[in-house]
Amino acid sequence: TFAFPPELIERLARARSVAVLTGAGISAESGVPTFRDPGGLWERFRPEELANVQAFLRNPDLVQRWYAYRRRLVREVEPNPGHYALVELERMVPDFTLITQNVDNLHRRAGSQRVVELHGNLLRSYCIDCGRPADEVDLEAAAEGKPARCPTCGGLIRPDVVWFGEMLPEEALAEAYAACERAEVFLSVGTSAVVYPAAGLPLEAKRAGAYVAEINLQPSAIADEMDALLLGKAGEILPALVAAVRQARNAG
Ligand code: NAD
Ligand code: APR
Ligand code: ZN
Repeated sequence: TFAFPPELIERLARARSVAVLTGAGISAESGVPTFRDPGGLWERFRPEELANVQAFLRNPDLVQRWYAYRRRLVREVEPNPGHYALVELERMVPDFTLITQNVDNLHRRAGSQRVVELHGNLLRSYCIDCGRPADEVDLEAAAEGKPARCPTCGGLIRPDVVWFGEMLPEEALAEAYAACERAEVFLSVGTSAVVYPAAGLPLEAKRAGAYVAEINLQPSAIADEMDALLLGKAGEILPALVAAVRQARNAG
């Protein structure tokens, strides 16, 4: 099994307040492609063409169909042991916040309660004119030149995800920063930490006095700032980590 730094286990066992940031890496073992790994999404599709407002206004039906495709993908996969380990950890820690950059809804499906979705959620849609939710509108039916439109006002329907160039939802970001200020331990899981402001959260927590650990297949852009670097698969490391913390809490 994995040999964890004793300080990490002790702090997690005693912690009242813990925050976790996850990126695409925690969903990789569920079969959801990451963005920048070999074979990742940005290798096959260019975000300039699909994940920004200009691209959407230029080709609304194309972008709607791409997100319908990604929706189908995430509906066909299951949360993995990494997602479930974080549900277990949430139950042990009085003040637990799960901050995710992922839009695949897998944390909610696994049973996580306190989920802060920094980049939105693939399963939600809204009308760009009246803002009404439009989750039930079938984006797959968008045909060439006939994009899916709002049943109320006829405006274009877009997925409720944050695109390149867009600001993050203010409330989610505020909740994430507040969690960084309170956290005694901060875990950064499966993110390359190249996209801000999400990538700045682990450093924010460290500045506020948290013990920060990274769980990743390979060191991220902020690995040097971490108090602990656990290299390996999130789906293997997280369950072992949570088991060690449970043991320490029971022994304590
Ligand atoms: P930004 O430049 O920090 O975010 C763009 C980031 O997206 C870059 O740092 C890069 O890592 C990545 N990116 C851009 N072009 C890419 C490409 N061709 N291939 C792979 N990755 C690419 O800031 P921004 O673009 O102005 O975005 C504003 C906010 O939106 C940021 O705060 C960011 O957190 C968020 N965002 C969300 C998404 C998303 O798809 N949900 C993508 C990027 C940024
Ligand atoms: N276990 C742990 N880490 C993993 C695993 C795994 N099984 N598989 C991949 N990783 C790591 C990779 O090493 C990499 O550091 O996950 C990270 C994936 O990085 P990205 O593909 O860049 O995904 P992410 O960091 O979530 O991207 C941030 O950029 O395009 C935007 O909005 C998009 O939310 C995304 C943001
Ligand atoms: Zn509308």
